[in-house]
Amino acid sequence: MKDFVYNKIPTVYFGEGVLKKNLPKELEKVGTNVMLAYGGGSVKKTGLYDEIMGVLKQAQKNVIEFSGIMSNPTYNKVREGIKLAKENNVDFILAVGGGSVIDCCKIVSAGAKINEDIWKMEFRYKKFPNEFIKLASVATASGTGAEMNNGAVITNEDEKLKAGMVGALSDFVILDPSYTLTVPEKQVISGAFDTLSHCMETYFGKPAENNVSDEITESIMRNVIRNIREVMKNPNDVKIRSELMWDSSLAECGLLKLGKITDFQAHQIEHQLGAYTNCNHGQGLAIIHPKLYRHIYKENIHKFARFAIEVWKVDNKDLSEEETAKKGIEKLDKFIKEIGLPSTLKEIGITDKEMLRKVADSSNITQGCAKQLTHDEIYEILLECL
Ligand code: NZQ
Ligand code: ZN
Repeated sequence: MKDFVYNKIPTVYFGEGVLKKNLPKELEKVGTNVMLAYGGGSVKKTGLYDEIMGVLKQAQKNVIEFSGIMSNPTYNKVREGIKLAKENNVDFILAVGGGSVIDCCKIVSAGAKINEDIWKMEFRYKKFPNEFIKLASVATASGTGAEMNNGAVITNEDEKLKAGMVGALSDFVILDPSYTLTVPEKQVISGAFDTLSHCMETYFGKPAENNVSDEITESIMRNVIRNIREVMKNPNDVKIRSELMWDSSLAECGLLKLGKITDFQAHQIEHQLGAYTNCNHGQGLAIIHPKLYRHIYKENIHKFARFAIEVWKVDNKDLSEEETAKKGIEKLDKFIKEIGLPSTLKEIGITDKEMLRKVADSSNITQGCAKQLTHDEIYEILLECL
C-alpha cells in the first residue's frame, strides 16, 4: 500500500424516506437563499420536485431554481449557474439528479466564490478552489458515485475537452434507492456499468500486487455484476436498487483507491469521445474497455488472471496464466453484450475516423495504466471499436 490520508467523505443518509427525515434538520444549519438545481425535468415527473419544494418552503427558504442541467454538463451551463448564484447571494446549493447535475453544482459552488474564470484558473494556472458555497446532493440515479467526491467532469465545448475539475465536496448526501426506480432501463444499466468500470480502473492500477483495497474491489465487482443481472429481471425491486446505489457510492468515495495509483485510461478515452460526440458515459466505456484490455493485459497478466478467477469465476485448472487472463476479458465482453450495452461505436452512430483521430490525440495518457499508451495506440484501439 502507498501512504494515504483518508478524511473527506460526506455524511450519507441512506434508505427509503431519508429525505423527509433529515433534510429539515440540515436546512436549519444553512442560510436563507437556497439554489435548487436539477436536470431536464425527471424530478418534476417523479414528484420529487414537489416533495423537496415542500420541505424548502416549510423551512422558509428563498428558493432560486437552476434547471435544465444536461447530461455531460457543459462549461457554459456551469457559467450560467455561477452567475445565478452570485446574483442571488446563494447560501446553499441542493443538487438533485444524477452525476451530471451533481458535477455541475460542484463547480458552481466553487466558481461563485471567486472572481476569475474557474476553467482557466484550474487548467491554465493550476490553481484549485478552496472556498465553496455549501453543497448537498440528492442522487436520483446511481452509477457515477459523483455525490461522494469533489471531482467534476465538465465539457468545454469551445475547447473540445471533457475534463475532470476540482470542485466542492457535498456536505451531506441523500441516497434513497427508491428514487432510482424511474430511471430508464438503458440508463440504469449504463450507470451500473460505470460503477463496474470505476472498480476495474482502480483494480488494474498500481501497485499490481494484491492488497486489501483490491480485495474489497473484487467483492464490489461481483456484487455489481450480480445485481445488474437481477435488476434486469426485477426492475421494481428496491433492494436490488439499494445494492447498486451503494456499490456506486463505494466505488467513488475514495475507499477503493487508498494506497493505489489508479488507472482510468478507459475513462480518459471515453471523456474525449464524449467531448466530440456527447455519447452516454457508461455506453462509451462498455465499448472501450474490452478493446483496451486486449492491448494492455500482457503488461499486468497476473492481475488480469486474478480478475478472471475472482470476479468471473473462470476455472483455470487447465489454462495457462495468459489463457486465464484472456478468458476474463472474454467474459467481460460477453457480459457487456448480455446486458444489452453496445460493443461497437457503430451501434451508437459513430463512424467518423477523422474525428476518432482527434479523440485519440486529445486523450490524456494515465500514469496508472499498466502500459503507457501512445496516441497512435489509442487511435488503433478506437478503430477496433468501430
Ligand atoms: O435530466 P433529467 O430529466 O433529470 O434526466 C436524467 C438524464 O436524462 C435521467 N434521470 C436521472 N434520475 C432520474 C432520471 N430519469 C428518471 N428518474 C430519475 N430518478 O437520467 C439521465 C442521465 O442522467 P446523468 O446525470 O447525465 O447520468 P449519470 O448519473 O450517468 O452522470 C453522467 C455524468 O457524470 C460524469 C460523466 O462523465 C457524465 O458527465 N461522471 C462523473 C463522475 C464523478 N464526478 O465522480 C465519475 C464518472 O466517471 C463520470 O465521468
Ligand atoms: Zn465513470
